[in-house]
Amino acid sequence: MPVTTIIEPFRIKSVEPIRWTTRQEREELLKAAFYNLFLLPADDVLIDLLTDSGTGAMSTHQWAGIMEGDESYAGGRSFDHFRDSIQDIFGFKYVIPTHQGRAAERILFGVACKKGDVVPNNTHFDTTRANVEFVGAEALDLVIPEGRQPSLKHPFKGNMDVAALETLIAKMGRERIPLVMLTVTNNSGGGQPVSMENVRAVHAVCRRHNIPLYFDACRFAENAYFIKLREKGYESTTPKQIAQEMFRYGDGCTMSAKKDGMANIGGFLCTNDEALAQREKDLLILTEGYPTYGGLAGRDLEAVAIGLQEALHEDYLRYRITSTAYLGNHIASQGVPIVQPPGGHAVYLDARAFLPHIPSEQFPGVALAAELYLEGGIRSVEIGTLMFGAAAKMDLVRLAIPRRVYTQSHIDYVVEVILEVWKNRDRIQGMRLKHEAPFLRHFTAQLEPLERVLAG
Ligand SMILES: Cc1ncc(COP(=O)(O)O)c(C=O)c1O
Repeated sequence: MPVTTIIEPFRIKSVEPIRWTTRQEREELLKAAFYNLFLLPADDVLIDLLTDSGTGAMSTHQWAGIMEGDESYAGGRSFDHFRDSIQDIFGFKYVIPTHQGRAAERILFGVACKKGDVVPNNTHFDTTRANVEFVGAEALDLVIPEGRQPSLKHPFKGNMDVAALETLIAKMGRERIPLVMLTVTNNSGGGQPVSMENVRAVHAVCRRHNIPLYFDACRFAENAYFIKLREKGYESTTPKQIAQEMFRYGDGCTMSAKKDGMANIGGFLCTNDEALAQREKDLLILTEGYPTYGGLAGRDLEAVAIGLQEALHEDYLRYRITSTAYLGNHIASQGVPIVQPPGGHAVYLDARAFLPHIPSEQFPGVALAAELYLEGGIRSVEIGTLMFGAAAKMDLVRLAIPRRVYTQSHIDYVVEVILEVWKNRDRIQGMRLKHEAPFLRHFTAQLEPLERVLAG
């Protein structure tokens, strides 16, 4: 009989204790955090699924690399390792280090976009959208219609609607579209992959209109593994070969190395355009740092150089994708509405379907995330009306799995907690916003349960 138990393809050499709290403590903590889980002290969280960004565990090789970090201000050899590792996988000519993904976005959009432009993407992540809008351009989401229906199963729900892209170009004119972006995997759309066929089709449209194609490459390794699993013709291709092929269709990328860079900090911006790279480096020097470290320490560059290669190991990707699917499939089999199929780095609960009695203007995602914390000390994040305002197409609660951090028994615990909340879902109340910031309001928003407002 084939062995089906999911095991972590690593041994644990160093452990970090996590702390239990009582339900009463969590009630107090939640109130003090204004029902916004971003405002909780991390020590008061038992299982932290807020994000998979920068929360992963590094390998022995990465820690060894950290000791090798060259902290020279200019021309350090750690930058050579960083650039070589990136070029090996991504193949772009110019590699610009940044402290994280959003710095790469700010520099790219700051240089390439202006007021009145339109940037199409399958789905913009929140920082991507905010950085596009910050320069006065419009961030447009063109994911395929299947990608907007949470319960619908489709192997590549992250695909871009190629016909809609054509229509947009015809309507706006090429001059108003400085670049097209593909986010792999599509985080805000449920961690869903983009197929190679779709990448090729988008590339063909971009080429025809002479528009550069950029990747938001945060989870490129997971996307590559989904292509291997689901797309005909790639069964015997390695994840690395798949990633290399995908990036050959692009003109550049932004990257947060806090995801598939397997590092706790870092990012980069790549392009094949020499003149653009020069302008980007000028801006980099102004706000991030010299182009051979770009806001990072030499040791961080080493960790990313090694991590990018480790993220493509097949044993690791098999364990990661299988473990995430195990969580999603277990709760879905008990009726819990999730974005189907489970994503690569996260499982997304469909809060509108989970709590049909709470309208979206009462933030069902925030209410559900608060309840998961109350029930079991689990921290998740709302991706919906609080994060995107009226532009939100869905109200989701994302349970993002940090890389190489939690074991299968932690995952079993999360399943149990979600099923308990599901059983008592009718008791959950909507939320009211008390305070919001002008940008990215979900990070600092203050809320309160509606029942307390009604009670006066
Ligand atoms: C798809 C996507 N793009 C961009 C970013 C921004 O990266 P960072 O948090 O490193 O700034 C994220 C972060 O979660 C992301 O998921």
